[in-house]
Amino acid sequence: MAKIETPELDARVLLKDALKLSDAELIAAQDATASPEGEMLYRNLVCRRISGEPVARILGHREFWGLRFELGPDTLVPRPDTETLVEAALASFGRADAPRVLDLGTGTGCILLAILHELSLATGTGVDISPEAVETARRNAKNLNLSGRAHFVVSDWDQRIDEQFDLIVSNPPYIPSGHIPELSEEVRLHDPMRALDGGKDGLIAYRALAACARRRLAPNGVLVAELGIGQEADVAALMRDAGLKVDGPARSDLGGVPRALVVRG
Ligand SMILES: C[S@@+](CC[C@H](N)C(=O)[O-])C[C@H]1O[C@@H](n2cnc3c(N)ncnc32)[C@H](O)[C@@H]1O
Repeated sequence: MAKIETPELDARVLLKDALKLSDAELIAAQDATASPEGEMLYRNLVCRRISGEPVARILGHREFWGLRFELGPDTLVPRPDTETLVEAALASFGRADAPRVLDLGTGTGCILLAILHELSLATGTGVDISPEAVETARRNAKNLNLSGRAHFVVSDWDQRIDEQFDLIVSNPPYIPSGHIPELSEEVRLHDPMRALDGGKDGLIAYRALAACARRRLAPNGVLVAELGIGQEADVAALMRDAGLKVDGPARSDLGGVPRALVVRG
């Protein structure tokens, strides 16, 4: 069984959820006793955590860019590293801009919806090959009052899209297939394989993204793609080979890993 890195924090988050407590109530409840039902529910959540289920999967939601995103079995749990992609995308636009945004492989919709949340005049389309992920993204847009500016399509990359966009964003599946067995159980057993597996060299989806960018970027448009560890040179080369201009170096995440590559048409 894998080691739980933050047992105390996880226990408190699960307790808060089981007993439906606010932060203040959680602090005040230090010495309080729960009802038998509350205690049973809490024990059940703790057992799930001990058996290796990630906290976000147990709760069914995760915070990203300060916003709450519901999860489904077919959506990746949004990662803090991906906020670097949102930062890089926002750096190309001002608050008065109204970019048309395309999010390829939208999952929960977290990237697109974070951008629409920041740019109140932007509109966007999120696509995913998974109908269940698209349903989850639609629900998240509704919960965040962004449905009026976001629409979601089930599509194999841009196959069912025919417009052009000022901004294309994507966090594609990029783990080389041979590395999947080395991932932690929390990722390997609980995140959907379709969200992880980038094929033999981890780059299959980037080739598709480069082709999409050629077809879908409006004049002066920009593509911002998330990178896996060590992929900057290969992805940049692949984008250049497709006739795109790389605006390097990639923006690094908080761990210093080059994470968001900006590419222009
Ligand atoms: C790494 S996840 C990213 C999800 C979300 N954007 C995020 O950052 O949390 C990649 C997503 O791409 C989707 N995907 C994989 N292959 C696809 C394809 N051929 N066309 C469209 N979406 C695809 C997966 O279903 C998954 O939701």
